[in-house]
Order: sequence, then structure tokens, then C-alpha cells
Amino acid sequence: MAKLDILEFPDPRLRTKATPVTVFDSKLEALIDDMFETMYEAQGIGLAATQVNVHKRLLVIDVSENRDTPLVFINPEFEIIEHELCEYDEGCLSVPGFYETVSRPQKIAVTATDRTGEQFTVAAEGILATCVQHEIDHLDGKLFVDYISTLKRQRIRSKLEKEHKKSEIGRASCRERV
Ligand code: NI
Repeated sequence: MAKLDILEFPDPRLRTKATPVTVFDSKLEALIDDMFETMYEAQGIGLAATQVNVHKRLLVIDVSENRDTPLVFINPEFEIIEHELCEYDEGCLSVPGFYETVSRPQKIAVTATDRTGEQFTVAAEGILATCVQHEIDHLDGKLFVDYISTLKRQRIRSKLEKEHKKSEIGRASCRERV
């Protein structure tokens, strides 16, 4: 298994619309395992393939307290069961350090396939419903910061751009020392 690099806002590759998974092979298995390792290490509750620069419709999620309930959703789609909205302070591994309140339908039915290509449907509510919708947004090139005001989004963008510049300078000076 290997830890993968996570793309960070405002990286334009996060805006790519992912295409369906059609081949269920050992390469896909390896990608799923690497995504779980990356998500657990980053202490996230969900990760979309888009975030690791693989533009296929695949999500890994674990919203359990003990981090022992890994869920895989391939080619996921959802239907709203309960239109009532639920508010969560959402964060994202691609927008590190920022949390904003987003409202989404609180109960959904998710249809997807598992890692063997078998289709299933599950009801999801609360944090799982929020997480699935947040991750499916990633597959469509959408981020939670798209739901907040332009002003707030710009502020997050410029702060992260500054961080990225700093870490690039850090990397360059490391190279010089070698
Ligand atoms: Ni995210």
C-alpha cells in the first residue's frame, strides 16, 4: 500500500468531472487500498478519487468513531429521501484547516457498486449522508467552498495559495542542500 498525494484547493485538477469505473481488477483494488491508507493517515472521514488525481467515480468513507467501518462506493448515485436540510460544519482534506457550515438533505438512498462490481443500495443519514454528498460533489468537480460566499472562498483561496508558495520554497531549499 502507498500513501497518495492529496490535491489542494485551488488546484484546477479538483474541477475535473470523473468518469465511471468500468474495469474491476487488481489495479482498482490497489487504488482502493491506497485511498483508505491515505484517508486514515490524513484523519479524514471520506476521500474521493478526484482528490488523489484519479478521475474515476470512486469514494472511500469511514464515519465510525473507531475507524473500523470502511465503506467503498463505486459509481455512486443518490436519491433524496428526506428533503429536510441538515447543517454540518464541513471540512475537506483538499481545503486543509478550514470549516464552513453547509446545508444538505439529511436522508438519502445511495446506489453504488462494491469493489467486486456488485450493485447495492443503502440508506444514509446524518454525517454519512453529508459525507456521501460531499464526496460525490468531488467527482463532479465541486468543493464545499462553492456553497459559501465568494468573499469567504477568496479568503480561503489566498490563504492556501500563500501556504502552497511557502511549502514550494521549502522544497526548493531542501533540494539545494542535497
Ligand atoms: Ni472533501
